[in-house]
Amino acid sequence: MNSSFIVANWKSNKTLFEAEEWIKKFNANGENIVICVPFTLLSAFNQPPLNLGAQDVSMFDQGAYTGEVSAVQIKEFADWVIIGHSERRNYFNETDDMLQKKVEQAKKVGLKIIYCVPDATTFIPSGLDVVAYEPIWAIGTGESDTPENAETICGQIKQKSGTAQVIYGGSVTNENVASFVTQPHIDGVLVGSVSLEPRKFAALVANAQ
Ligand code: PGA
Repeated sequence: MNSSFIVANWKSNKTLFEAEEWIKKFNANGENIVICVPFTLLSAFNQPPLNLGAQDVSMFDQGAYTGEVSAVQIKEFADWVIIGHSERRNYFNETDDMLQKKVEQAKKVGLKIIYCVPDATTFIPSGLDVVAYEPIWAIGTGESDTPENAETICGQIKQKSGTAQVIYGGSVTNENVASFVTQPHIDGVLVGSVSLEPRKFAALVANAQ
């Protein structure tokens, strides 16, 4: 790809008011940026030029599944969805089998998938759009992987999954983003903490280009 693919993952953060403030201050745009917001914000931010994503999807069709949000509901507002984030695997016991079902649901409605794995040995379903290598110990810790190791793992993931785009996530900052996206097999980054700060995130986007 020509420019780096950048995914913001807001996780379980931001009220509507806080998200509106973020939008006012975030002055970078591009087709290569996807903002993955909580379900509660999808409807409010379904406006160009933002590319929206959800952070999870139900493994079931629409129906009697209290608390779940189905793929068809997400697709009304967003084009992208994150599946298999390590926080889903760890706190909600999502297994490879469940994640495969989520992938099938997303594909059925044409949602584009960012599939997260903690290493190159984890199961990766076929037909994904983007795979994100996110070592668990690097998420939210301020301790990123080295660009060299991330490059090796992303290369292995690319070969194993056949997915054209592989990105790195885990303590990516304005300062270190360039060292990742300049690696041949790293096509972009997935950003948690820094994406919550609009000005820092805009600087990160600028440094990645
Ligand atoms: P972090 O989160 O940037 O805060 O490390 C990354 C992620 O969980 O996707």
